[in-house]
Amino acid sequence: MSPDPQRIPGRRLLLAPGPTPIPDEVLHAASGQPLDHGDPRLDDLIAANERGLRWVSGSADGEVFMFASNGHGAWEAVVENLLAPGEAALIPGTGHFSEQWALQTEALGRSVLRTPWREGWPIDVDAVAAALRDDREQRIRAVFAVHTDTSSGIASDLAALRRALDEARHPALLVADVVASLGAAPYAMDALGVDVTLGASQKGLMSPPGLGFVVVNARAMAAAEANPAPRYYWDWVRRKSPLNYRKFCGTAPQNLLMGLRRAFELIEREGLDAVHARHALLRRLVHAAVEGWREGGALDFFARDPASRSASVTTITVPEGTDVDALRAVARERFQVAMAGALGPLTGRGFRIAHLGDSNPATLLGALAAIEAALRVMGLAVGAGGVQRAVQALADSALQAEGR
Ligand SMILES: Cc1ncc(COP(=O)(O)O)c(C=O)c1O
Repeated sequence: MSPDPQRIPGRRLLLAPGPTPIPDEVLHAASGQPLDHGDPRLDDLIAANERGLRWVSGSADGEVFMFASNGHGAWEAVVENLLAPGEAALIPGTGHFSEQWALQTEALGRSVLRTPWREGWPIDVDAVAAALRDDREQRIRAVFAVHTDTSSGIASDLAALRRALDEARHPALLVADVVASLGAAPYAMDALGVDVTLGASQKGLMSPPGLGFVVVNARAMAAAEANPAPRYYWDWVRRKSPLNYRKFCGTAPQNLLMGLRRAFELIEREGLDAVHARHALLRRLVHAAVEGWREGGALDFFARDPASRSASVTTITVPEGTDVDALRAVARERFQVAMAGALGPLTGRGFRIAHLGDSNPATLLGALAAIEAALRVMGLAVGAGGVQRAVQALADSALQAEGR
């Protein structure tokens, strides 16, 4: 019988690529009493989060706008501010999330040019370059790029997209969705030549869901100011104000801001480079386990190019006919490990192990062992040495760090 969900000894492990586990310090910070609108502490709280978002996004002086929303809200803010009705965005195919953003853009009365998604591969930069070259009338106002597609577990090369824009001498703005990668993989919008960064609180930033945000450079801000599209709640121009009530177009989601400020303090204390290095190590452990499992013949990496496998999440394919929901239920209900299925065109074809946010090798090794057990319960042909390989990868990384 599965354990009583009301009383589970030990910890349940959340290995979904968002929302991710929230450190106790962040949860406690988020439980503070609200402040009145005129309290200078509220201005300090907002300013600390603006600084934090600029810092993790690698922006010297971008405008930060935060929304009581999820990532879809941030997508909508980008569309409403950068495109007038009928104007076009180029959305390079990354799989599920590029397509969702494209559909949302079209639903808002804008047009979308897509480049095809090649299954198992990151953004096809040559196709993007060709689309930009072909756009002689410069109809494309912006390129909306998903950095890490959370369903495929594949990260694309934003620097290559910037080069494609520059080589085509195309003035379109470059917008990067770093919902799944911020705080996990190195990213610096100024250095990359990204004009707008968009993200959300619930993944690498280790905070409760409910806060979407954008960081906007001067060029993109000028485009928003010149955009005649009617808008209100999402309007960056209206929100650009020293008044906190204006900044949020109403009451700020204060408790989320309290949590996020604490998360930035934790990231700062660990060090941003160290946070990225920890994610790289966690990814290595998962990859080692998958290398072992795939020897059984049933499983494989979805991402064909190892260099494109994301720092945040690994997508693993299963044989046709596998009941992925049943596999997840075994892992979650019997072994206390929640992992995700794959989405959109990958639905039913794989599962995902997140190595994102507030995690460490011990937690991850425990989870990998439980996942291996769940794979066996499901009767999948998995190689015997997956978890052992992950243990060895951890030991090797420690020996390497000690120069041995
Ligand atoms: C890359 C990416 N973009 C956008 C979104 C949408 O975010 P939300 O679910 O918070 O609306 C997600 C959600 O997982 C995502 O992974």
